[in-house]
Amino acid sequence: MNVLVIGNGGREHAIVAALAKSPRVGKIYCMKGNAGIAELAECVDVDYMDNAAVCGWVEAHKDVEYVVVAPDDPLAAGLVDALEARGIRCFGPDKAAARIEASKSFAKALMKKYGIPTAAYEVFDDYERALAYVRGGKFPVVLKADGLALGKGVLICETIAEAEDGLRQIMLDKAFGAAGNRVVIEEFLTGKEFTPGEEVSVLAFTDGKTIVPMLPSCDHKRAFDGDKGLNTGGMGTFTPCPFYTEEIAREVMDKIMLPTVAAMNAEGCPFKGVLYFGLMRTKEGIKVVEYNSRFGDPETQVVLPMLKTDLLDVFEAVTDGRLADVRVEWEEGACVCVVLASGGYPQHYEKGKEIAIGDIGPDAFLYHAGTARKGGALVTNGGRVLNVCAKGKTVAEARQKAYAAADKIAFEGKQYRTDIGIKYNLKG
Ligand code: AMP
Ligand code: GLY
Repeated sequence: MNVLVIGNGGREHAIVAALAKSPRVGKIYCMKGNAGIAELAECVDVDYMDNAAVCGWVEAHKDVEYVVVAPDDPLAAGLVDALEARGIRCFGPDKAAARIEASKSFAKALMKKYGIPTAAYEVFDDYERALAYVRGGKFPVVLKADGLALGKGVLICETIAEAEDGLRQIMLDKAFGAAGNRVVIEEFLTGKEFTPGEEVSVLAFTDGKTIVPMLPSCDHKRAFDGDKGLNTGGMGTFTPCPFYTEEIAREVMDKIMLPTVAAMNAEGCPFKGVLYFGLMRTKEGIKVVEYNSRFGDPETQVVLPMLKTDLLDVFEAVTDGRLADVRVEWEEGACVCVVLASGGYPQHYEKGKEIAIGDIGPDAFLYHAGTARKGGALVTNGGRVLNVCAKGKTVAEARQKAYAAADKIAFEGKQYRTDIGIKYNLKG
């Protein structure tokens, strides 16, 4: 079966690599892809935010039988609806279901209505009213742009002055565009000893009836070591997550995962695809920090390499509503991903820097995020450039191998965190 994957980043490279292992997969296309994906797939230069253009391309390529829509923005723009309306089979939620990520106020209202544990919140469309609310409230306070903001639309404010500035950025200056027309203001969740809560990302396959969690992983959203600096799309990940015990996994299944699937059905927007649960361990148990309507980036880069089951089999079972019939199996051990970013990311950075990749050894592997070919040379082409991954028996072993490989890669401005895999793994 020939497959088209929509997206450009490290996550899409990991999806393409997993699909390429399937004996049932023939040719893979990727729209638009990157220099690493181009080694496994034919890259297609069509704007995937243009539903009509994507559908037109697929209809003109009769050999393509299945489409995987990976990023949040085309899902929110209804690409799956447009493809399905033309009878094209695909993987991913439709526009109504993708609201679980595309609108934080939708997600919060869903959790409130169906008793799914999350931070207390209020929603505002009006700047003055939002301002009055934070002035009368507790600190820290969390401000979230309602819409999609590349993972950057969340501000944690310690003081009234910071909150005033944050509201101005989101609602008046539109730092995150139209995503900030509405703001969700949340209570700040803390961990067991009033420290920041421990966080874990659990991605799950669901066909709207059955939900199958993948391995738990931990993201590192801040730009610099020790969780300092601005929020980014994610600077590194590891799996498994030591505090995510079987007992916690059961609590999450019963109190969060199954109720979320049921809530989406009850609201008339069944979710089919990958549902991402961003979770925090708090004094009152596990709570949802965010939902995403897709695979996480860079969580996917440590989770899919551990998948033993054929990914196409799982995808098609989701599409056809028979996920209950598939056994999804995982390797034992650990995997770590270190993101190499462009200097200055997540703010201003330059592209087009030549990348030199030395011998990274047999144990590490790379997914490309923002790379391109210029002439014969591999060059940087985005904020997050490369994902350096390695497996090991433990997170500590995988971490050591990933960093050894990261040292073998050079480009001007290379910026990365040196502490991926230490959090919650203190022995590492
Ligand atoms: P999000 O994009 O919603 O995942 O938020 C980015 C990060 O901000 C999360 O990974 C948390 O570390 C932090 N965060 C978001 N909401 C809260 C909250 N209510 N309390 C504490 N931290 C939060
Ligand atoms: N790593 C966070 C996300 O994919 O949204």
